[in-house]
Amino acid sequence: MAAGVAVLLLGLLPAGAAYPPAVSGRGGAVASAERQATAAGLDVLLAGGNAADAAVAVALALAVVHPQAGNLGGGGFAVVRFGTETVTLDFREVAPAGVHPGLYLDENGNPVPERSRVGPLAAGVPGSPAGLWELHRRFGRLPWRRVVRPALKLARDGFVVPRRLERDVTRHRELLERFPESARWLLPGGHPPRAGSTMRNPELTAVLEAYGAHGPDAIVRGPVARAVELVSRRYGGVLRAADLTAYRPVWREPVRFTLAGWRVASMPLPSSGGSILAESAAMLEPLGWAGLPRAGADRAHILAAVWKRVYADRYRLGDPESTEVGPAELLSPAWIRRRVASIDLRRAVPSGEIVPWPGSPVPEPPDTTHLSVVDADGNTVALTTTLNGTFGSGVTVPGGGFLLNNEMDDFAMAPGRPNMYGLVQGAANAVAPGRRMLSSMSPTVAWRDAEVVALGSPGGSRIPTAVLQVLLALLVDGDPLQAAVDRPRIHHQWLPDRIDAEPDALSPETAAALSDRGWTIRTTASLGEVHAVRRFADGTVEAAADPRGPGWAGVVEPGVGGRGGSVRGQATPSPPTRPSPRP
Ligand code: DON
Repeated sequence: MAAGVAVLLLGLLPAGAAYPPAVSGRGGAVASAERQATAAGLDVLLAGGNAADAAVAVALALAVVHPQAGNLGGGGFAVVRFGTETVTLDFREVAPAGVHPGLYLDENGNPVPERSRVGPLAAGVPGSPAGLWELHRRFGRLPWRRVVRPALKLARDGFVVPRRLERDVTRHRELLERFPESARWLLPGGHPPRAGSTMRNPELTAVLEAYGAHGPDAIVRGPVARAVELVSRRYGGVLRAADLTAYRPVWREPVRFTLAGWRVASMPLPSSGGSILAESAAMLEPLGWAGLPRAGADRAHILAAVWKRVYADRYRLGDPESTEVGPAELLSPAWIRRRVASIDLRRAVPSGEIVPWPGSPVPEPPDTTHLSVVDADGNTVALTTTLNGTFGSGVTVPGGGFLLNNEMDDFAMAPGRPNMYGLVQGAANAVAPGRRMLSSMSPTVAWRDAEVVALGSPGGSRIPTAVLQVLLALLVDGDPLQAAVDRPRIHHQWLPDRIDAEPDALSPETAAALSDRGWTIRTTASLGEVHAVRRFADGTVEAAADPRGPGWAGVVEPGVGGRGGSVRGQATPSPPTRPSPRP
C-alpha cells in the first residue's frame, strides 16, 4: 500500500515564509490524523477509487491504527459533495432502547458522570458499521471489498505503532485496565505498545474480513452483535444486539450558508456544528468583521461575543425530533439582528446577562478524528468520527478487537449541568430511547465555482470555532491552506464565560486590550486538529494536516497517459518549531 510515500522535507521552504505550503499535486488529496490511514486513502485513489471510496478506506484504517477515536464501535458525520450534489450522512449513535434518564442519576437526581463516561452504559448504539457502508453504497466506485482491504491488511499484517498511540494508552491506562478485554489488546504483557514496533489485531482482522465480504450484517447481526450484548450485560449495560440490528444511518439536507462569496455546507442536527457556523457567519457580516485589521483586539472581541450568543442558543438544540429550535429560526434575519444588537463593541457582556445560567466546568482533552478527501474530479468527503472520549467507554467487544463509544455523555443528563466538554445543555437534548445525542462535530465543505475545500476537526465543543476560524482565514483573508490550518486559534462557548486562547493567538497587547474590555482569558495548549483538502479550478489539489497533532497530508500524482501514478505525503512539524505570527 502506498509504498512510495516520500516525505517532502519542510526544510526546503522559501526563506522567510511564515507558514510552509500544503503538499500539492493533481490527482486527489487526503488529510487525516495518521500517516498509515492517509496512505490507505491514497492507495484507494491510486487504484481508481473516488473520494467516497478513499474516505471509507481512511476511516477504517483509523479504526486499526488510531483506535483512540477511529472506530467500528462509534459513529460520526460526513458532508459529501459529488458533482453539484451536496448531502450529509448522519451515522451518529442513538440511545439504546433500554435507557431511561434515571440510569445516569443518583438518588438525589444528580448526574453520576462515571455512568455516562465509562463502561457499556456510556455507549450509544454504534453507527459506523452501517454508516461507512451507506456512504460507499451511494457514492463509491470500487468494490466494497477493495475499499476495506487497506484496513484489513493493516490489522492482519501489522502496522507501525504511532507515537500518539503509545502516549494515549499510557495516559489512559487506568481506563483500559478496568476492562480485561481492552487491556489484553492495548496493554499486551501489561505495557503500552511501543511506538515504532509492529502491532497486529487478529480479532479485528476477522471482523474486517467478514465486513469486507458481507457488509454491516457481519457486525450488527450474528456473533459480533452477540458479543456486544455479552460485554454490555457483563458490566451492567443496556446495549443489546437488537439495538445494533435496528440502527439506521440517515441522509440529511446540510445547513447551508455563504461566506465571502463561497457557498458552505455543514452538518445539521443532531450536530450543532452547522448551526453554530452559519449563525456565526450571519452575525459576523453585519458587524463588519472581514474589514477589521487582523492585528488588535477587535476581531477577537467580536468572535468571542458572537460565540457567546451562538453557544447560548445551542442550549435549545437536540435531536431533530426533540429540538426546541432549528437552524431556520436561529438563522432568521430577525433573530440575527436581535443577537447582533445585543453585542457591545467596547465591553464584554457577561454570559449571565445573555441567558442566566450558572456553570464553570473544565473541559477534558478527549479524542475524535477528522479526515478530508478530494478526488481528481473534485468530489469531496469531509468525515468526522468519534468514540467521544479517548478510547470511548474503555470497553472492547470480546472477539471483536474494537472499542465501544461513550457518546451517552453528550446527552444533557441533567439540564443545566455541564458535560465532559463543559457544555451546558437543555431539555431538548435529554436522554431518551432511540434519540440521537447532540453533537458539535462539523465536517464542512465550501465551494466557489470549480474550487472546493473540505475540512473538519476533533475537539468537542471547540470543533465549530476551530472550523470557522480556518474558513475565515481561508475564504475571508485569503490565506493559503496550510497557513489557515496552522494559524493560532481562540474559543468561547458561552459557559464558562471566558476566552480560551492558544499560546500565540493573542499578543500581550491584544490580551491586555481584551481584558480592559471585560474579557477573561485562559491560555490553552491547543484548540482542535483540523485536516483539510482543497482543489483549485485548474485541477491542482492540496492537503494540509494540522501541526497540533501528528497528522499526515498526501496527494496523488497521476501517471503519464493515465497509467501508474504515484503518491506524495508530508507530515507537519510540531507547533513549537513553527513561527506563528500574532494577530
Ligand atoms: O459529538 C461531539 O460533539 C463529541 N462527542 C465529539 C468528541 C470530540 O470531539 C472529542 N475530541 N477531541
